[in-house]
Amino acid sequence: MPGLITMDDLSNEEILSILDDAERLLPVAKGDHYLPLLQGKILGNLFFEPSTRTRMSFETAMKRLGGDVVNLGDVKTSSVVKGETLFDTIQMVDGYTDIIAMRHPRQGAAQYAQDAARVPILNGGDGAGHHPTQTMLDLFTIRQAHGRLEGLKVILAGDLRYGRTVHSLSHALTRFGCELIFASPELLKMPRDIVTDLNAHGANITETEDLLSTIDTADVVYMTRIQKERFADEDEYTKVAGAYKLHASNLDGCKESMIIMHPLPRVDEIHPSVDATRHARYFEQAFNGVVARMSLLCRLLNVEVPASIGGEA
Ligand code: CP
Repeated sequence: MPGLITMDDLSNEEILSILDDAERLLPVAKGDHYLPLLQGKILGNLFFEPSTRTRMSFETAMKRLGGDVVNLGDVKTSSVVKGETLFDTIQMVDGYTDIIAMRHPRQGAAQYAQDAARVPILNGGDGAGHHPTQTMLDLFTIRQAHGRLEGLKVILAGDLRYGRTVHSLSHALTRFGCELIFASPELLKMPRDIVTDLNAHGANITETEDLLSTIDTADVVYMTRIQKERFADEDEYTKVAGAYKLHASNLDGCKESMIIMHPLPRVDEIHPSVDATRHARYFEQAFNGVVARMSLLCRLLNVEVPASIGGEA
């Protein structure tokens, strides 16, 4: 059964329909209403790389919907350390579960797992490749704030080279006709093959090293962490570490409706002074991971989300 490996696996109509379902599931995600749509279903959480939000929000989503979760847990205590291959691990978990959420350090690992599996694979991040479930919660957050996805001006800033969240998000935003500004140090520019693909989808892209010069015209500023763990050479990391540090004082003159997002974790690219501003959305964004993943789990398990939940039409 097909899962979600890249945003190419979803049409724009499917994206909007999943976001609509997610909106109706909000009272369930908040624990205000119990709706065991996934009772009897088991999610396998296979995280070969560290995660807080993706792993825990998948687990919360499944449990809020009455389903259950089995975890690979710490890779060091699994049979991976005995040399078990990803192919063999997937063969096992495929038999134990109805759906798998997987994060892996190797780009392409999610597709490899899907090719080996009978159950759907939800790509929770494959190296510097893609992170489509993050994109679904990002789109949910943007639509909640602006009431639409179409035609927005979005700055994507920081590590665009290794940042799988911005690889997936830029693809989706282009398909909804957004104007994109890529702000990064030269060393961390968006990979050329991704820019070529975006252009083939009719992208409107400006690339710059200057984050602040266009911030007053933006509807969304999407900050990302410069990912030390992806650099082969620590000296290269040192050259770009701390390249962008957004402070509340940088936000004077921005649109009132502009939102600041971040997939988290942050290091120093968003100063805590931003947290109390009207623009900060990153903690709400992280919560939205539960509702977006609830909706995705229902969709991939062919479970219909009711048109009315908790008495709300
Ligand atoms: N946004 C995100 O992927 O966070 P985690 O690495 O904590 O899962």
